[in-house]
Amino acid sequence: MHLEGKTAFLTGSATGIGRAAACAFAKAGANVAIGDLNMDELSLTRDMVEKLGAKAVMFRCDVTDTASVEKGVKTTIDRFGGLDCVLNNAGMFGEFANILKTQEDQARRLMEVNYWGVFNCLRAEIPVMLDKGGGTIVNMASSLGLNPGPHSASYSAAKHAVVGLTGSVAKEYAAKGIRINSVCPAFIETPLTRPLIEQAKDRGSVKGPNALGRFGQADEIAEAVLWLSSPASSFVIGVNLPVDGGR
Ligand code: NAI
Repeated sequence: MHLEGKTAFLTGSATGIGRAAACAFAKAGANVAIGDLNMDELSLTRDMVEKLGAKAVMFRCDVTDTASVEKGVKTTIDRFGGLDCVLNNAGMFGEFANILKTQEDQARRLMEVNYWGVFNCLRAEIPVMLDKGGGTIVNMASSLGLNPGPHSASYSAAKHAVVGLTGSVAKEYAAKGIRINSVCPAFIETPLTRPLIEQAKDRGSVKGPNALGRFGQADEIAEAVLWLSSPASSFVIGVNLPVDGGR
C-alpha cells in the first residue's frame, strides 16, 4: 500500500488500534497527524511513527469538543497542508452492565464520545477535504454496531449510530471525491478490552469469541483501515466492514 505524500489524521491514536493504524500509515509512507487526550501514550505513538521514517505531528484532541477537534485539524493543515486519509477512532467502552445497573451519566458519556465524537470530527474534516478535492474517511464502529450483544446497550447504540452516520454521509460526499466507510471490529486485544476480556472470561461468556477461536490484534484492524484509505478500495463507499474473525 503506497500513500507517499498523503497526510493521515487519526483521533484516539495514543494506544490500541489507533496506534497500530498510525504505524501502518507511517509504513505506507504517509505523514501522520495524531490526536488524543492521553498525551503520554500519544508521544510514544509519535516516537514509533518517527522511527518508521514518517513525519509526525501530535496534538491534544477531545473529540467531544468541537473547538478542540477544529484545533487539531488546523494544526495538521499548518504542518502538512491538508488531510487526505482520516481515521475517526477515538472511543470508549466502560464496562459490561445490565441497562438497569448502568449509570445514566456513563451512558450519556458513551454516546458523547463514540457517536458525537465522530459527528464532530466529520464536520471539521469534510470541508477541508472538499477544498482539496477529496479524501478518504474511516470511522471506527464495532461489531456491536451491527449485532448488539447483552450488557452493552449504550455502547451498541452509539456504534449503531456510527454505522448509520457513515452510510448516510458517505452517500452525500461520494460524488464529491470523499469516500467514507467504517470498520466494525470485535474483541481486539487493546487497553480498552483487556479488563472486559477478563470480566467475560470470569462469566464464562467468551469461550469461543468467533469462528477463529482467538482474539484479534490491533494490527489486523489497521490493515483493514489502510485498505479502505487506499486507492485499492476506490469503488467501496458507505460500507461498514466487519473485521471480527467470523463473529
Ligand atoms: P484504546 O482504549 O486503546 O483506544 C481508544 C483511544 O481513544 C484511547 O487512546 C483514548 O485515550 C482515546 N479517547 C477516548 N476518549 C477520547 C476523547 N474524548 N477524545 C479523544 N480521544 C479519546 O481502545 P481500542 O480498542 O484501540 O479502541 C479504538 C476504537 O476501536 C474505539 O472507537 C473502540 O470503540 C473501537 N473498537 C474496539 C474494539 C476492540 O475489541 N478493541 C472492538 C470494536 C470497536
